[in-house]
Amino acid sequence: MFSIRTSRPDDLPALKTLLATCGLPSEDLTAQHLEHFIVFAQSSRIVASVGIEKLGTDALLRSLAVDPMMRGEGFGNRLLQEIEAHALRHGVRRLYLLTTSADSFFEHHGYQRVERSAVPESIRNTTQYASLCPASAICMCKSLS
Ligand SMILES: CC(C)(COP(=O)(O)OP(=O)(O)OC[C@H]1O[C@@H](n2cnc3c(N)ncnc32)[C@H](O)[C@@H]1OP(=O)(O)O)[C@@H](O)C(=O)NCCC(=O)NCCS
Repeated sequence: MFSIRTSRPDDLPALKTLLATCGLPSEDLTAQHLEHFIVFAQSSRIVASVGIEKLGTDALLRSLAVDPMMRGEGFGNRLLQEIEAHALRHGVRRLYLLTTSADSFFEHHGYQRVERSAVPESIRNTTQYASLCPASAICMCKSLS
């Protein structure tokens, strides 16, 4: 049985493995990021993750990943709800993200496409945004309330 919880620093290796399996970048991910990560896990096995990089009232939503064997069971939906609630509790008012393949998933959850020029500089300066995600990725935003 998998349970949802905040990530811990010792999750880092398992998280990087999951992200690699899902084709998402993780080179920049450090233990410090994990305070704002949520995972589905059973003991040390992690099957789904999501995180934010908080920059004042804006944040980059990143690393939404569900193990390919576990997709279609609601983990993605649940994680997105939980990270949005977590972000709100931490004073975030706008979430930005980059995606190459899940834009319709995020549209379904109220995210709208935005031009890269409309993205705040603080978000554009994150390593994830600036260099790890392909230039062809779609940028999206959602205001939280
Ligand atoms: C996108 C992803 C997180 C969805 O996870 P999931 O656990 O399969 O999603 P859920 O089971 O909660 O599905 C929720 C809904 O989204 C739909 N959906 C799932 N993946 C989708 C995708 N890539 N594009 C469009 N819709 C998608 C499902 O059909 C389902 O629809 P329904 O509610 O109408 O039945 C997962 O496919 C994934 O890990 N993709 C690779 C990594 C990625 O692209 N991450 C986003 C960039 S940060």
